[in-house]
Amino acid sequence: MPSYSLSINNKPVQVDAEPDMPLLWVVRDLLGLKGTKFGCGIAQCGACTVHLAGTAVRSCGLPISAVAGQKITTIEGLTGNHQAELVQKAWIEEQVPQCGYCQSGQIMSAVALLHRNPKPTDADIDMAMQGNICRCGTYDRIRKAIHRAATLQQVPPGSLKKSLTQI
Ligand code: FES
Ligand code: FES
Repeated sequence: MPSYSLSINNKPVQVDAEPDMPLLWVVRDLLGLKGTKFGCGIAQCGACTVHLAGTAVRSCGLPISAVAGQKITTIEGLTGNHQAELVQKAWIEEQVPQCGYCQSGQIMSAVALLHRNPKPTDADIDMAMQGNICRCGTYDRIRKAIHRAATLQQVPPGSLKKSLTQI
């Protein structure tokens, strides 16, 4: 069985896997990172979203052989990332999650969006998030939370706590 090297959450890892094993199985089953979810398995729901070199991608549709040597970030790897923490705060403030199953994928897509577009419009948000399906219908709250996170990015870190209660 071939061996592959890649960077997961800024740590070098080596995994033995068949070339067609989806990155999602590598992350969840070989590396034990369960924050990335399995939904459809056919790149249609977004539950399995991770970042590949900062871009949101569906890990269920990416064979390990296609991402060897590349930099992957999962939801666990967002810890300590200021932008991601603002998204998390906005998610809490807007009480986005319902059952929660889709939410790690939603947050990964939202963070990638805000990284490339710090002030997205509704249309930008709808375009970026259209591949992330939520069976609980949290779309309106997700849109609000992304706008909120965009606003929080403009707030100096020292006044963030105060601002959270004012926005
Ligand atoms: S599980 Fe990958 S897109 Fe649905
Ligand atoms: S919060 Fe339940 S599927 Fe999105």
